[in-house]
Amino acid sequence: MSTPAGFDPRRFKAQERAGFNRIAARYAEGAHLRADLATALLDAAKLAPGQRVLDLASGPGLLAREAAARVAPDGWVLASDIAEGMLAEGAQRAADEGCADTLSFAAADAEHLCLPDASFDRVLAGLALFMFPHPQQALTEMRRVLRPGGRLALSVWGPRDVVPLISRAQDCIARLLPAPKVPRPSVFRFGDADALVSALTTAGFSDLRIEPCRFTCHFADSESYWQAFLDLAGGAAEALSRLPEATQVTLRAAVTGDLEAHRSADGAGYSVDALALVAIAQA
Ligand SMILES: C[S@@+](CC[C@H](N)C(=O)[O-])C[C@H]1O[C@@H](n2cnc3c(N)ncnc32)[C@H](O)[C@@H]1O
Repeated sequence: MSTPAGFDPRRFKAQERAGFNRIAARYAEGAHLRADLATALLDAAKLAPGQRVLDLASGPGLLAREAAARVAPDGWVLASDIAEGMLAEGAQRAADEGCADTLSFAAADAEHLCLPDASFDRVLAGLALFMFPHPQQALTEMRRVLRPGGRLALSVWGPRDVVPLISRAQDCIARLLPAPKVPRPSVFRFGDADALVSALTTAGFSDLRIEPCRFTCHFADSESYWQAFLDLAGGAAEALSRLPEATQVTLRAAVTGDLEAHRSADGAGYSVDALALVAIAQA
């Protein structure tokens, strides 16, 4: 899948890494908003005791910690991410929850895994594939480290128009700020299931299944919505943090109007929908 002209993958990865390091603790705190999606992915992975699992782009290990519980006592989970601050947050939470024995953490770029061939029964990759400058290379790596017959379970955002959780904030940014000098790859680039199927097939996966997962996030006010967006989107959080405070205040105020369409039925706060696709594939 092609990237925008002038795009610099190294710079992009550095910005994502800095952004996700910046928001590590807040990302973990906001995880409850996406709990239904996490459960759908973990169930689709069909985890069982004794399995070896790689959770790629693990963030603060939300999927990894639950996976560790499902493969215990003899299984093992490796949580891996490009942002070491995310992994530190995950390791701390794993220690607090007492699941550190079956769970390890190691920083890695998903496009270049220093892991042996055929060494995992399962690979998980929640809300990550669209972030990689070379997603096809990352999928090839995922298949390489899976044993033949092993299973990949990943999630991506669905089509833009049904993910106001992200697109309302993006629309607001696009309206009020100059366009970025170098466009970033869209987080919706696998929202069309055909694009996802094509990428998985090209990487050599078989027995594909794509399942939609709809969920709704409730926010008491527009400020909470905006903060939740920043706590989810590392690159955007990093870029916006460099803006003058006055511009950030303007953005926060502007999103209030955009959210009117999502006012909750009882008038108290907002209910904002999202659709993700969960893909299951066999190596
Ligand atoms: C939206 S978070 C998803 C975290 C977690 N998988 C989940 O389901 O909540 C995306 C994660 O991808 C990581 N990431 C971005 N680019 C990466 C890369 N090239 N290799 C590995 N991880 C990467 C980020 O640091 C971030 O933790």
